[in-house]
Formats: sequence, C-alpha cells, structure tokens
Amino acid sequence: MPNIVVVGAQWGDEGKGKVIDMLADRCDIIVRFQGGNNAGHTVVVGGREFVMHLIPSGILHPGKYCLIGNGVVVDPQVLLEEIEGLRASGIEVENNLGLSDQAHLILPYHKALDKLREQKVGAGKIGTTGRGIGPCYADKANRVGIRVADWMDDEVFRRKLAMNLEEKNALFSRLYQAPAFGFEEIYRAYAGFRERIARCVVHAPVFLNEAIAQGKSVLFEGAQGTWLDIDHGTYPYVTSSNATAGGACVGTGVPPTKIDRVMGVVKAYTTRVGEGPFPTEFPPDLMGKIRAKGKEFGATTGRPRRCGWFDAILVKSSVLINGITEIAVTKLDVLDDSPRVKICTAYRLGDKLLAHPPAAIDRWQEVEPVYEEHPGWLKDTSEVTSFEELPPQARRYLKRLEELLRVRISIISVGSKREQAFRV
Ligand code: GDP
Ligand code: IMO
Ligand code: MG
Repeated sequence: MPNIVVVGAQWGDEGKGKVIDMLADRCDIIVRFQGGNNAGHTVVVGGREFVMHLIPSGILHPGKYCLIGNGVVVDPQVLLEEIEGLRASGIEVENNLGLSDQAHLILPYHKALDKLREQKVGAGKIGTTGRGIGPCYADKANRVGIRVADWMDDEVFRRKLAMNLEEKNALFSRLYQAPAFGFEEIYRAYAGFRERIARCVVHAPVFLNEAIAQGKSVLFEGAQGTWLDIDHGTYPYVTSSNATAGGACVGTGVPPTKIDRVMGVVKAYTTRVGEGPFPTEFPPDLMGKIRAKGKEFGATTGRPRRCGWFDAILVKSSVLINGITEIAVTKLDVLDDSPRVKICTAYRLGDKLLAHPPAAIDRWQEVEPVYEEHPGWLKDTSEVTSFEELPPQARRYLKRLEELLRVRISIISVGSKREQAFRV
C-alpha cells in the first residue's frame, strides 16, 4: 500500500473523515498534519456517528496507529475529552495514539484572543471557529509558542507560560479591556492534562520515516480544504495552516519523495462555513433544500453551511496545487432530487473569462460563475454499490467532472454510512 495524502479540494467538510475511514483499512499509520480542533471529521459506523476533531479518523480501525503530527495545534483538554468519548463508545485508544513532541499547544488565551478579535472587527470578521487556531499559529510563527516538548519539561513550561502571559495580559487589558489570565490556574490545569497525555508523546519524523523504511504505509489526513489554506486559499478568509498536500510533509517530517499519491476529496456540490467569497453559492430557495437534504450544519460549531453548485474552476486549481492523482466524490445522493445540476466552468470578471481564481480578495468577490447545465437523475442513489448501477445522468455528471478536472474519480460516496461508498 502506497503512502497517500488526503486533502479537501474545496472549503472543508468534503467528507474527508469518511474517506480516511475507508482508506485506513489498507494502511498501517494515519497521521493528521495540520489544523486543530477547528476540524470536525465524521465517520458513521454501525448506526453510530463519531466526530473526530484532533484524533485521526483511522482510530475506529483496531490495530492501526494514529498520530497527531507537528503541524497540528493541540488543545489538550479537547484531546482528552475526545479520547474519553471514544473509550466510552468502546473504541480502543491506548498505545495506538501518538502526539508529536513538536506540535504546538493551544492555551486559554489563544481562544480568548480569537473570539475578542472577531468581535472587535465586527462586519470584517473571518467567521472563525473560535478555537484559538489563528492566535496559536501566530505564536508559532512569532517563535513564542509552547510546544509539546516544552510542556513536558516543567521548568521550561513555567518559564514560557509566564513570558507569554505577560505579553498577552497586556493586550487583554489595554486593547480589549478584557480580564487578565492568572498563571496558577492555567499552569495547574495544563500540568494535570500533561500527566494524562505524556505517554502518547513521540518524535514523529523519526518514528514515521523508520516505519516507512520498514515497509509500513502512511495515510496523511488533511483538515479543512485547499481554499482555506493560508497561502493558497481565499486569503484572508482562510484558516492559519497549510491544508494543501505540501502541508503533509511540513506537518509530519516525511519528505515529498516518500509520498506516492494525493487524493482530493470533493462534494458533488460545494459548501463553505464562515465568511469569504463563494462564486457558486445557491440562491435562497435552493440553499434551503440542499442544506436540509445534505444536513449541512458544521460538525464543530453547528453553524449552517453555505451551499452552492460544483465549482470546477476551484477544484481544477486544487488538482494543480495539490498534485491530486485521484478524486473521491461524496454526497452524490444529496443531488438526487434536483431536476437540473449545474457545474461552474469559468469565472467572468468584467469582460474577461478566467480559467483560474484570482489572487486579490476584491476580485474574488466580484467574479461571476459561468455554468453549464445538466439534467438531474431524479432517482435515489443511496443504495447504489457500483458506478454501473448509477442512473445514466449521474454517470454523465461524474464523467463530465473527470473531463473538466482531468483526473480520475476513484471513490464515490452516496450516504454517510461506511457501507454507502464504492470504489470505481
Ligand atoms: P470532513 O470535515 O471533510 O471530514 O467532513 P464532515 O464530517 O465535516 O462533513 C461531511 C458530512 O457529510 C458528515 O456529516 C458525513 O457524515 C456526511 N457524509 C459524508 N459522505 C456522505 C455522502 O456521501 N452522503 C451523505 N448524504 N452524507 C455524507
Ligand atoms: P474540516 O477539517 C470547514 C473555517 C471557519 C472559518 C475559517 C477560519 O472539518 O473540513 P479557524 O477557526 O480555522 O481560524 O477559522 O476556516 N474552517 C472550516 N470550515 N471545515 C473545517 O474543517 C474548518 N476549519 C476551519 O469556518 O471560515
Ligand atoms: Mg468537517
């Protein structure tokens, strides 16, 4: 089994959790490489729904090793709650979970800063998940972040926490007129979490590269999606990490020469949570229908997701940026009741037709989608188990996507349950 990177090719929530769960069966190690508990990855097995925020979606497969890589920002309280939640459901989380000693810690002041900033900017907000992701990555880039290895050393942790609090508390009191954080309270809570997490800590680059050298295969689990990537996404309406395939190397210490394949996950349509451009967004009537049928409410914050038609311009650029070698299409069943389905094949900007998204956010907001229309299939696909069994209109829709994206579709998903998907 090759080493595969799985990335979202839209704005997140493409169904990566479900696809990872499918692929996990055939690999040895599953590693998350970026993001934090802004992610919500859903897997439905045996009538039970599991939503993973930090732990890789391979955890439901006994005998697989799951790792949280250095590129991830970790809220230890959330991690412990997730471990306990899984255990309470009878899932084994013992020696099969590792945490990189180079991952950064989310602290209470990161969460407070995230929310205060959003409140302060008002209408110009990003619509973040409020989980402290941006401020934590900002500290990482600013070289004042606290890494897992720092946290494990009591003296270093105390020193770094005190230093950070001095700076952050000045911000809280002067800029935001918000209460300061006390050292003792955070220190005691995090020392408690540390005791329970210490046994998971590993040095991921050595662990992973040695495993690969021994012939083990690694599945790299991306969070968010290409258009939420800090460099390649709809900046500034993005998250603060590299959700594209390159992030898999940076966020784990496994070199590009060890990656064999990149799978892009897309919905058969498009969704986005939070603010920012969305050229193919549905008008209100369709929005309500697809949102209800697709249960399009955030797995992390419960916010309604914005929904729209499939945007081939967006995904074509994702294929390019990520080097996508195959595509998994999810939620095809959600379009079952649509008499017509549309695909955006170009952006119109003034009198020009664009084949790639623009970089400037103001241009992004101005582009108009150019659509081609296809007849819908108006048949229930949720029980279909092969490409050949799909209604002809659905097959033609998928073939057209392959043609436009110039990449093959290798997985099709027609429902949230583990069994509702097939390989092509
Ligand atoms: P992720 O963040 O990319 O892992 O995706 P989420 O879990 O946030 O959102 C995907 C949602 O769609 C979850 O509720 C899944 O259970 C559900 N889902 C996944 N694949 C399908 C599918 O083919 N059809 C339907 N109807 N739901 C699906
Ligand atoms: P998964 O892994 C969808 C969005 C937020 C917001 C922006 C920045 O489940 O696909 P942040 O809290 O990261 O600073 O918020 O990114 N966002 C996601 N949208 N799926 C996600 O993760 C997301 N993680 C962050 O809604 O617009
Ligand atoms: Mg999600």
